[in-house]
Amino acid sequence: MDAERDDRVVAYGTWMHRQVELWDHPPETAIGIEWFGVDIAYQGQRTVDDESIAKTLFSTIEMRAREDTNSTPDMPLVLEVDEENTVAQGFWTHLGFEYLDTVVVEPPRRQYLRMFRAPSMPS
Ligand SMILES: CC(C)(COP(=O)(O)OP(=O)(O)OC[C@H]1O[C@@H](n2cnc3c(N)ncnc32)[C@H](O)[C@@H]1OP(=O)(O)O)[C@@H](O)C(=O)NCCC(=O)NCCS
Repeated sequence: MDAERDDRVVAYGTWMHRQVELWDHPPETAIGIEWFGVDIAYQGQRTVDDESIAKTLFSTIEMRAREDTNSTPDMPLVLEVDEENTVAQGFWTHLGFEYLDTVVVEPPRRQYLRMFRAPSMPS
């Protein structure tokens, strides 16, 4: 059977280095997950390798970010998620992110949970 090539974008994510203050530590450079989403038609779906599309997107972003020449192995990952987006909060928690604090962005006045994940350092 012939397989047709499908060029649709099913997921999209970006990262950038940014300065963060974790607890009362001095500012440090972290890998920020800036945009992240899976097309609704593909949420809960898996790749041809039977991996979650969402988890594949995240691991690809993290791998590319850590390969960047300005990255160091000890950089934490940080992101903000809308306080009403409980699905994404569950997803990030499942991937090992922890709640850090709540930030308010205005306008419009919306609350975002800041979440972080410590780097997995080689033992
Ligand atoms: C958040 C989002 C990326 C998750 O994608 P998804 O396709 O629903 O995720 P999957 O179904 O592939 O789940 C991947 C894994 O996370 C787990 N998971 C997903 N949502 C979860 C939740 N709310 N609570 C607990 N675990 C969750 C799944 O059980 C699965 O686990 P496993 O593969 O280890 O068994 C997707 O819902 C999305 O794009 N939402 C809109 C945009 C958005 O909110 N982006 C985040 C902005 S911060």
